[in-house]
Amino acid sequence: MSLLFSVKRVSKLKDKVILITGAASGLGHAIAANLLEQGANVVVFDINKESLSKLGASFDQHQVDVTDYESVQHEVDQVIEKHGKIDVLVNNAGIIHNELLVNLQKPHSMKHSYDSFKNTLKVDLDSVFIMTSIVAEKMVMQRTKGCIINISSISAQGNAGQTAYSAAKGAVESMTKTWGKELGVFGIRTNAIAPGFIDTPSTAAALNDKAIEHIVSSTPLRKLGQTDNIVQTVSYIIENDYVNASVLQVDGGLTL
Ligand SMILES: NC(=O)c1ccc[n+]([C@@H]2O[C@H](COP(=O)([O-])OP(=O)(O)OC[C@H]3O[C@@H](n4cnc5c(N)ncnc54)[C@H](O)[C@@H]3O)[C@@H](O)[C@H]2O)c1
Repeated sequence: MSLLFSVKRVSKLKDKVILITGAASGLGHAIAANLLEQGANVVVFDINKESLSKLGASFDQHQVDVTDYESVQHEVDQVIEKHGKIDVLVNNAGIIHNELLVNLQKPHSMKHSYDSFKNTLKVDLDSVFIMTSIVAEKMVMQRTKGCIINISSISAQGNAGQTAYSAAKGAVESMTKTWGKELGVFGIRTNAIAPGFIDTPSTAAALNDKAIEHIVSSTPLRKLGQTDNIVQTVSYIIENDYVNASVLQVDGGLTL
């Protein structure tokens, strides 16, 4: 019985072309590795040459800055030339940015830097627009019943100390719902995943031990999420063809 089940799962993703941004490390890499294992052709877009060089040859790797419109258009054209289509786009690339709007600890420059605000929006929001407009055009023109998954965050609901990051993720969720409606008529589904605090190197880098302890004690399940919790949600969205225009909160019950 379990063998039959696993054969069925492989066949669902087999020959699907899945493009994942920011998949040379972190959550994106875990998602990419899992989809590869399930039989998909996995294409990785990432800016980091060194991390890309550590990926195996099984991934179709492209070094590209997903905030650069012309480069993305060029690389997506290359993917279509090689694989013929893109079935799934996972917009995962992003940066965490922590900064208060007014920081009393910095008396000489208390205000949030406008440059860091713009840069965070460029990486976390503009990239999702750029990637999706270019890939969705291919999906529509080729009549691909595609699937777009945006990796958001519970910070979309507003998190003190994260003006820019929260703004970007909030807008990503708004675009998700808009595209779910606009692209749904072509059979293309758009959904977002809003992870809570996941036990990853980027979480460890962004938060000290005290902050992590506080998060764990405020979470009804009393633990951080694991990368696998997000990986499983990506597979669920790809396989369930009636989930559209939704934001799935994967946060152990800690909604901000
Ligand atoms: N880790 C968490 O707990 C957590 C929680 C909520 C949401 N998220 C979201 O999940 C996503 C992945 O987070 P992570 O923790 O794995 O981060 P990470 O820093 O480990 O990985 C991000 C990847 O994106 C790539 N990248 C960054 N800017 C890029 C650009 N301009 N062009 C191409 N690639 C670029 C990086 O090189 C890196 O490989 C992000 O969107 C993040 O906001 C993470």
